[in-house]
Amino acid sequence: MKKTTLKGAVAALALTAVAAAGQAVAGPDEDELVIDGETIVTRVAAPEDHPLDELISGWRFRSDETQALQMDDFENPAMVLVDQARDLWAEVDGSEGKACESCHMDVEETMVGVRAGYPKWNEAAGKPFSLEHAINACRTERMGAEAWKWESDQMLGMTALVGLQSRGMPVDIDDDALSDWIEQGKELYYTRVGQLDMSCAHCHEDNYGNMIRADHLSQGHVNGFPVYRLKWQKVGSMHRRFKGCMDNIRAEPYKRGSDEFVALEAYLAWRGQGLSVETPAVRN
Ligand code: HEC
Ligand code: HEC
Repeated sequence: MKKTTLKGAVAALALTAVAAAGQAVAGPDEDELVIDGETIVTRVAAPEDHPLDELISGWRFRSDETQALQMDDFENPAMVLVDQARDLWAEVDGSEGKACESCHMDVEETMVGVRAGYPKWNEAAGKPFSLEHAINACRTERMGAEAWKWESDQMLGMTALVGLQSRGMPVDIDDDALSDWIEQGKELYYTRVGQLDMSCAHCHEDNYGNMIRADHLSQGHVNGFPVYRLKWQKVGSMHRRFKGCMDNIRAEPYKRGSDEFVALEAYLAWRGQGLSVETPAVRN
């Protein structure tokens, strides 16, 4: 697919921040993502009530070199943290003398499919949990241990390890339980913010496939998080990426783990339902 028109606000932005509109435009490529012999769905038709015709993973918009890093677990730089998290899984911590393993046993069995269903309604909290919230609830309430910082290596490694157990499974959240939050996230998604007066939709819905500076715009899906980003030279959370996009349009970003970002996460998970979980993905 090729999109060649730069629309409305983005055309205006082109004068300031975006590279010239005449720059080469390249749609998503036709490569298939296969890891360890398993094909990961990176392009599917969207359901009827969806704003997009088809859903395309961010992986399809990356260069061959970046794609290759995600196709081989030995090359994927995120796997270092995943391996560290395997050790953490078995490590006793906190006043209760427990490890994750004490209750959840083998991560490769008990955590299958978990990531695909997040964010997830949490009855006790009366709101949806991101995976990070669920893990910290276990640490503070069940282990008597300190919460991990959202962007710490421990949390990034653990969300990647848990997420890996859903790799290849379609994102599938509980739309009914999350409906209010999905609505709220949708509103945030389409609201113009920041000095550049842009919404997420301006880039990720109206202009995916186009180039912005030297970067190839994707549909902005969240199925790969946490991801290893070459620019960060490390693994980063989904909410870090949201913050980065808000910084780029010079908006005041919300905090990681905030209700606003959880709502955006819920809406983006809804938008990406049917794509496979790719955790941990690699991006530029
Ligand atoms: C004392 C037992 C215990 C320990 C220790 C424990 N958990 Fe849990 N964990 C639970 C229970 C109980 C639940 C809730 C299950 C439910 O009702 O969905 C849960 C839920 C979770 C969930 C959400 C699962 C889902 O299906 O949504 C994740 C993820 C998780 N734990 C990760 C961890 C990690 C990582 C650690 C170690 C840092 C850990 N847990 C330590 C008992 C424990
Ligand atoms: C000015 C254009 C622009 C706006 C506005 C923007 N982004 Fe992005 N976003 C990017 C670029 C560039 C990238 C990196 C290339 C890509 O995947 O599109 C990116 C990447 C992402 C990714 C990672 C996709 C992946 O596959 O790894 C997510 C998620 C995302 N953006 C969410 C958002 C959200 C949420 C908003 C609104 C708060 C937003 N973006 C607003 C430009 C934008």
